[in-house]
Amino acid sequence: MALAHAVSRMGPRFLLVQENGLRSASLFLRTNAGLVEQRMHDATVAGLVVTARTLGVSHCAVHSCCESSTLRSELSHALAPGASVETLSAHAIVSGAIAFSDSVAEEDGLWHGPALSSRVNATQRISYTIHRPVRAVFDADELTLSKVVGDRPVLLAVDAHIDALHGEAIRNYARRRLNLRGIVHVSPAEGEKSWSQVESLCQAAVDAGIDRRGIVVAIGGGVTLDIAGLAAAVFRRGVGYVRVPTTLVGLIDVSLGVKQAVNACGRKSLVGAFHAPIACINDYQFLQTLPRSEIACGLAEAIKMALVRDAVLYDEIDREALQLMQPAVCASLSARDIWFRAETLMLEELSSNLYEANLARLVDFGHTFSPVIEASSDYRIAHGRAVALDMLLSTGIGVCRGICDPALFHGLARLLDRCQLPVHDAGLPRIETLHAALDDARRHRGGNLNLVIPVRAGRAVFVQAVSAEEIAWSLAAMRSAAEEWRMSAAHADVA
Ligand SMILES: NC(=O)c1ccc[n+]([C@@H]2O[C@H](COP(=O)([O-])OP(=O)(O)OC[C@H]3O[C@@H](n4cnc5c(N)ncnc54)[C@H](O)[C@@H]3O)[C@@H](O)[C@H]2O)c1
Ligand SMILES: [Zn+2]
Repeated sequence: MALAHAVSRMGPRFLLVQENGLRSASLFLRTNAGLVEQRMHDATVAGLVVTARTLGVSHCAVHSCCESSTLRSELSHALAPGASVETLSAHAIVSGAIAFSDSVAEEDGLWHGPALSSRVNATQRISYTIHRPVRAVFDADELTLSKVVGDRPVLLAVDAHIDALHGEAIRNYARRRLNLRGIVHVSPAEGEKSWSQVESLCQAAVDAGIDRRGIVVAIGGGVTLDIAGLAAAVFRRGVGYVRVPTTLVGLIDVSLGVKQAVNACGRKSLVGAFHAPIACINDYQFLQTLPRSEIACGLAEAIKMALVRDAVLYDEIDREALQLMQPAVCASLSARDIWFRAETLMLEELSSNLYEANLARLVDFGHTFSPVIEASSDYRIAHGRAVALDMLLSTGIGVCRGICDPALFHGLARLLDRCQLPVHDAGLPRIETLHAALDDARRHRGGNLNLVIPVRAGRAVFVQAVSAEEIAWSLAAMRSAAEEWRMSAAHADVA
């Protein structure tokens, strides 16, 4: 009798004694996934009987070449009433198994069942604190960082500019309060946000003897945080990671989520990982030395959140922009209230969607065209400036299709201009390139464009298709806004 036939009339479990002398018996289980074989080496008759009883085996087949009357009678006693023991020839076993399932085959004397699936269910609990200590993070008496890392081995990854400004304080603190194993300088140029810097950091971690308990502490702007965060994500398949952001973009944006990435294959932030930090330590005093152009980039991210979520905050930033651009004000307690509100909005959006299961994200406002704007300018246009251009371009598209009031577009353009952010740039990619960038955005967002367009301050919608004509219309509006102000600035100079 063919095995397939045997299987079809057997219960869900049956025993097949396949080889001579019981040296290798096989227990076949019929499951929803198909035929599963469990090999039992050096089986004994008693062992097989126990197995048959335990598993409620309803049918036994004994290979014809190992037929043993003892085995047959012992097994038939072990089976439930009505069950049977029979003898199968080697040929019947093989052909029957193949007939039973195309994917059952015998190779090198082993039975290979059908492609079997196994499910692994696990949940990872993500929990980290964004600390905002009152004292400077590297003040000798400030313990937040030392408490966060404890006695774990630490590799410091420091933004080269931050090292020049704060290197001594960082080293003094690290020697006194941390289990410091090494310090690496990260080049913070966007054009060097590359895999080679991640690899250098991994090499430094090896040289410093960082083990799996080790922690990478990144101190710097978004570029440094992205490079060090990715190194922490991949080194020994993941070690601890602590962020100490030092730019406004770093503080109100990069520090909050679980993403890190570097630029690759001519694409912005193409290669990356989700790797939650152990903690972030946000110290706004770093902002005192931040150039205005970098404050402007941070303001672009704050404007982004306010414009799609919070009209009151948007108005406040609109009123205070000129003040906020001054480093001393930017680092002050009064400004921190604004930064904190922008961070809270960002966190609300991120924390319920940390791994981006939902790819329609309001935080992507200003981040659809910006990757191609940055990459095609060879990273001359900084991230925050590209975000500003993208926000205005997207808003203009909204005006073009009549879902957004032109006053919002002009108000945003004026605000960006006050923040010394561009409303147009001669280095913007061509219309076809910007239009093609939408396909890349779709690939990144599960097939949907999800372009975020504000409809009024505090509220935005997702748009799924945009034409090249709409992009052209919006670019023209941006260009004429830029020209208008250049002319009025020239008039003001003459006056
Ligand atoms: N992973 C994320 O979730 C995420 C989110 C937003 C942005 N980003 C990335 O962040 C990067 C932009 O970050 P960024 O705007 O901080 O730029 P950045 O890291 O390039 O820093 C800007 C410049 O400021 C210098 N600097 C840093 N801190 C300073 C300080 N306190 N005083 C004086 N100079 C200082 C840096 O050395 C650098 O020259 C982009 O690559 C962007 O893709 C990542
Ligand atoms: Zn951004």
